[in-house]
Amino acid sequence: METLDLSRLPKHIAIIMDGNGRWAKEQGQDRLFGHYHGVISVRKVVEAATELGIQYLTLYAFSTENWDRPEPEVTGLMTLFVETIAKEVPDLHNNNIKLAFIGNLEMLPNEAKLALANATEQTANNTGLTLIIALSYSGRWELIEATKKIAQKVSNAELSINEITGAVFSDNLASKGLPDPELMIRTSGEYRISNFLLYQLAYAELYFTDTRWPEFRKEHLEQALLEYQSRERRFGKTSDQINQL
Ligand code: IPE
Ligand code: IPE
Ligand code: MG
Repeated sequence: METLDLSRLPKHIAIIMDGNGRWAKEQGQDRLFGHYHGVISVRKVVEAATELGIQYLTLYAFSTENWDRPEPEVTGLMTLFVETIAKEVPDLHNNNIKLAFIGNLEMLPNEAKLALANATEQTANNTGLTLIIALSYSGRWELIEATKKIAQKVSNAELSINEITGAVFSDNLASKGLPDPELMIRTSGEYRISNFLLYQLAYAELYFTDTRWPEFRKEHLEQALLEYQSRERRFGKTSDQINQL
């Protein structure tokens, strides 16, 4: 088997953790069973990312559109988030992991808001992996929010229109301060972005696997990284230009 070049790993990996529901159905269980098993995969992938020395990992846990799922699934997921955060934060903290959340967090129930605020605060000074959970997140929501913030600054005469650069735009996104992901992984055989990091994924390498999220393990992450390392990232240039660098 090929080996990973540890000097050429992405700084930031983003994952659409998909397929919990289908996996559960295949096991003759209900969808929440799949979400509970998905947490095991989260733990394994966070461990693997830490071992590899990845700096940023963004996990898509719940989209704005997911609010429209049947009420028992939404409530079950909210309970799972609160339980998981309470249970995992001590270990994450011991492993020097910093937690951050992006999304329309206002929409979350109070209990979840509190859990997120505590987790963020407790791990704020950690310097290892930054684990970003996209929760009640939508890429379009984030772009609209950034536009509103920038428009407000222009209207307050704090910023002129000519000063709106890519850097200013990035600074007004929920992902402010994070580098763009170089690699985006989606599990469970769907080939779409589903409103994830629309601005930030502009030049990400996309990797799709049929593996359902509850079965995703370190070896699957390594497979994705191997594929990533086999690609030539050209950023609009020609292959010759890239190879001259
Ligand atoms: C991903 O798995 C988790 C969430 C969106 C919360 P799904 O729940 O979308 O599982 P499938 O796609 O229905 O199998
Ligand atoms: C995307 O998965 C959101 C998360 C993984 C949290 P969905 O299962 O909601 O996406 P669609 O509906 O298949 O596009
Ligand atoms: Mg899905």
